[in-house]
Amino acid sequence: MIDTQNIHVQKIENSKIGQVDFNNIPFGKVYSDHMFMADYAEGDWKNLNINPYAPIEMSPANPSLHYGVSIFEGLKAYKHENGDVAVFRPDKNLERLNFSARRMCMPELDESVYYDGLDTLLALDKQWVPSVPGTALYIRPFVISDDDYIGVTPSVNFKFMIITCPVGAYYAKPVRVKIETEFVRAVKGGSGACKTGCNYGPTLYPAQLAKSQGYDQLIWTDGREHKYVEESGTMNLMFIINGKLVTPETGDSILNGITRRSVIELAQAWGVEVEERKVEVAEVMAAIKDGSLQEAFGAGTAATIAHIEVIAYEGKDYTLPDIAKREFSNKVLKELDDIKYGNKEDQFGWLR
Ligand code: COI
Repeated sequence: MIDTQNIHVQKIENSKIGQVDFNNIPFGKVYSDHMFMADYAEGDWKNLNINPYAPIEMSPANPSLHYGVSIFEGLKAYKHENGDVAVFRPDKNLERLNFSARRMCMPELDESVYYDGLDTLLALDKQWVPSVPGTALYIRPFVISDDDYIGVTPSVNFKFMIITCPVGAYYAKPVRVKIETEFVRAVKGGSGACKTGCNYGPTLYPAQLAKSQGYDQLIWTDGREHKYVEESGTMNLMFIINGKLVTPETGDSILNGITRRSVIELAQAWGVEVEERKVEVAEVMAAIKDGSLQEAFGAGTAATIAHIEVIAYEGKDYTLPDIAKREFSNKVLKELDDIKYGNKEDQFGWLR
């Protein structure tokens, strides 16, 4: 056991790393040796610990289990050629975690708890950051209730944890997506902009139906009229129409994605016109039909830049332009990778 200034660290006796095939890592199934945990009680974050990755104990009456009182984030660490490890825009994840916390009546996280936990955990599990091209260490910070009470009321005790897992691509190939016109992910006034567990569970059934019809993912539309394109649940949506980057504006029902924001910032730096606005399904369909839709892709931490190959609408599949010829999305994917993996100067100051 070692004690750092703020964190009590208990190291694993025998690392599991030798059992991992880094050339073939499924997303989210293999976890690194350690996890970080802190408690919130009596109005304060305390008991900062790093322990071997293991199941945790909780009350069967924990409100996170019953009412979806949970928030989470997703970010990635990348191995550079010189052995350094860089985390991509962790400040944005902290901002969004605290945004989600406010909406979910959960305590905001202190910057020092977040960074001390993140830095110490990554220093300890540095060898888990894979170096195979296209891989990274996915970092999942999350906050859950630690109460023992099934009344429907804000909790008073919480746990903040960080777990990590080496990952390859979330989508191994370009995706086929279906525009959803029956089910709803989020509505104005709802919690769709938060990364809370309760936004994800109810999407599994419609996504499973789409999967049974041969699609990888859904394009969610607005909850009132199914008139506007929103997001994809695992990623934000972006289109190149007539040379412009067009993406649904974020709001109550669309996650404020960090990859989405980074793509927009890169596009602006390159002089590409960007339109963040409401995007009608009818506009996308018309652009597909008249050939002005040149590219469509998802943007997310896990998904990175996921080319969209097919969009289905009202029972019909529409095949989009050849992926190899898509200039913007291929360029932005490469540029983001070059920055993340340290092959290019971090001119925006995105790496920690
Ligand atoms: C992410 O991209 O980090 C996500 O949280 C999306 C998904 C894996 C839930």
